[in-house]
Amino acid sequence: MTDSRVPLCSVTDLQSGQARGFRVGEGPWPLSGLVLRHGEGVRAYLNRCPHAGHPLNLRPDDFLDAEGRYIVCRSHGALFEPANGHCVAGPCAGKWLPRIPVEVSRDGVFLAEGVTAEDYL
Ligand code: FES
Repeated sequence: MTDSRVPLCSVTDLQSGQARGFRVGEGPWPLSGLVLRHGEGVRAYLNRCPHAGHPLNLRPDDFLDAEGRYIVCRSHGALFEPANGHCVAGPCAGKWLPRIPVEVSRDGVFLAEGVTAEDYL
């Protein structure tokens, strides 16, 4: 039996205070996201700032502030809660990063079944 799950990263990639970027799909509109550990949970969000639509990071996997407390948009400094993607400071305060459903197992972190890049166009 083949494994049709879409892998995003390994569980050991996600130490507290770290995040990992991922891209799923080909062509001009792949699904670009970030995945992070928050407490005992794992969260994933769309890598598109609600302010101006820019990717949040400028360098690979560079999504969190120095203390690992907030997700940061490097374009204009918006700060988002890792627990829920709510913007608490910056030009899009009050808006949200869209959450991407994931499944976590010993094998890694995977896109939840049925999620596609088209869901986030
Ligand atoms: S694009 Fe993210 S704060 Fe402006």
